[in-house]
Amino acid sequence: MSKKILLVVASTRPGRLGPAVATWFQQAVATVPGADLEIADLAAVGLPFLDEPLHPSTGIYHHEHTRRWSRLVDSADGFVFVTPEYNFGMPATLKNAFDHLSREWAWKPCLFVGYGNTSAGTRGVQMAREVAANLRMPAIGGDIYLRIADDVANGAVIDTERRTAHARHAFTQLIRTAGILRPLRTEDGQITRATYADAAELTVLQRACWVDEAIANQTLDLPALHESLEQVSSGLDDWTVWVIRAGGRLVASARARREGDAWQIGRLMVAPDHRHRGLGRQLLAHAEQAAPPGTQTITLSTGAHSSRNQALYRQAGYELTADGPAGTVSLRKAHAS
Ligand SMILES: Cc1cc2nc3c(=O)[nH]c(=O)nc-3n(C[C@H](O)[C@H](O)[C@H](O)COP(=O)(O)O)c2cc1C
Repeated sequence: MSKKILLVVASTRPGRLGPAVATWFQQAVATVPGADLEIADLAAVGLPFLDEPLHPSTGIYHHEHTRRWSRLVDSADGFVFVTPEYNFGMPATLKNAFDHLSREWAWKPCLFVGYGNTSAGTRGVQMAREVAANLRMPAIGGDIYLRIADDVANGAVIDTERRTAHARHAFTQLIRTAGILRPLRTEDGQITRATYADAAELTVLQRACWVDEAIANQTLDLPALHESLEQVSSGLDDWTVWVIRAGGRLVASARARREGDAWQIGRLMVAPDHRHRGLGRQLLAHAEQAAPPGTQTITLSTGAHSSRNQALYRQAGYELTADGPAGTVSLRKAHAS
């Protein structure tokens, strides 16, 4: 399977050399098999200085520019950072782009193409490598350094056979490492907080799961069947949503939020081909444990004819209450806080 490698152009100033260096690298590796190389030019990405209220490890982003950047970085399997050296360090634009995200960088390898005057960009790359390590982004080594006075002429990188061979070899190693690290990112069976990057898969999963509910309850009037990608995305702002992946695929999810003194759990779903393995029970227990102190009850609701769900909830200690809206039943149990 082809790996998606994002080539990040770090400098953003007018008249910069960055795009010419990126073009040289792109051409040098064009025929290396096994990767789709996409350019992310930070001048076009246009991130402001970090303006998110929450730590990026939450994956909760308030601004569309961060969500866009999150989706792009999340979609990549590895990175090439084309970066100049400014004042013995990396440009602030690259540090800012790193700082916006967290999980999206993790367990994806990176390669640097540094350039500069006296140092050929080595000190800038050295600093960026330390930041990358903190983001769990292994630098594979074999970086490429260009000393502008020697290696650039007429605004373009001087193309030599040796340099091209070096780029191709380093890029091949990057692609190889991207494949090897992939399983570290999927972590089968682990419950993690959903991010906006999960919204598309969540939308598909809930539609697949609620088909059964529609059949059992003889109705298509079920919000989970009709919600758009945008509605599922904005649900992530209002609910705490957890997901489980298997083999990289999102196969189960649940969500919860506080409603007065109740902790309301909902959208408990497991992909049809992953049922009967305890994932639903695991997610339910996880959601219950997340109930904030001070909540008195944990509540759930399901279809009046959803006998499988009701059996699961009764086994977990829930009792039916009489107050479900039409066609649904509500269940609850006390929360020992
Ligand atoms: C603010 C600034 C600081 C710089 N500091 C260094 C430096 O510390 N070491 C170095 O080798 N080159 C330094 N340079 C030279 C740059 O590496 C060179 O101008 C390069 O073309 C910058 O990349 P860009 O054109 O993509 O912005 C600096 C350039 C700028 C604009």
